[in-house]
Amino acid sequence: MSARLIDGKAAAARVLTEVATQVERLKAQGIEPALAVVLVGDDPASHVYVRNKVRSAGETGIRSLERRLPAETSAEALLAVIAELNADPLVNGILVQLPLPGHIDETRVLQAIDPHKDVDGFHSENVGGLSQGRPVLTPCTPAGCMRLLRDTLGDLSGKHAVVIGRSNIVGKPMAALLLAANCTVSVLHSRSRDAQALSRQADIVVAAIGRPRMIGADWIKPGAVVIDVGINRIEEDGRNRLVGDVDFDAVLPVASAITPVPGGVGPMTIALLMHNTVTAARQQHG
Ligand code: GUN
Repeated sequence: MSARLIDGKAAAARVLTEVATQVERLKAQGIEPALAVVLVGDDPASHVYVRNKVRSAGETGIRSLERRLPAETSAEALLAVIAELNADPLVNGILVQLPLPGHIDETRVLQAIDPHKDVDGFHSENVGGLSQGRPVLTPCTPAGCMRLLRDTLGDLSGKHAVVIGRSNIVGKPMAALLLAANCTVSVLHSRSRDAQALSRQADIVVAAIGRPRMIGADWIKPGAVVIDVGINRIEEDGRNRLVGDVDFDAVLPVASAITPVPGGVGPMTIALLMHNTVTAARQQHG
């Protein structure tokens, strides 16, 4: 048997079509949704992500503005930019691309964003809403994973989901969303004992650890659905390659469905960012 490929590009295109329709409707009411993207420093991967976000915004009719700041920008200068965007009534969403340079405290910056404009869903007010089961602006990558899971499995109620990784950006919000969907949720991390045996019990495995091909066939129950959040750049056979946290070739014959890397979760993250921008715009005018 070979797993079905979960096509993140096609699913993202569907979300972006929905978003474009909603943008048109808002524009007919005189509201032009706008997303501000803040990029500090010159991390090459961050530049690629920001370029893709700005392009997707354009494709859905969302106005975007970019604030590029040099790597040596002080925390105070960055906070001043955020304060200005918070105060601008024509800006609905604010995204500060992570990681920030080491001298800037990320939490302090994320907490400075107006929670109503926090399209990443990283502000403690939005994190709290999610953990209490009343999500408004939900982190884009886990929200994208949930769409892929619902498209693949329908109702997730009662399924055993294992999330591997406990980051604030993916692992923790992913666990909260799965719990809200009535899954039985286990979160595994670097200190977990018998992680592989626990993972092998799961109906759903979400891998978000940032370690290339760590999850092999022996982590996966036959027929499980596997969502691979990892985007790792490796050097192989003299070539630069993008690989996930899952050993795709090994898991393919075991799982019932799996996301490829690239073309799985990645496109969904951007699509859900556009969705959140429209939600934020609607909320601010509601
Ligand atoms: N860097 C890696 N993933 C993300 C994300 O989802 N949001 C932001 N702002 N930065 C990131």
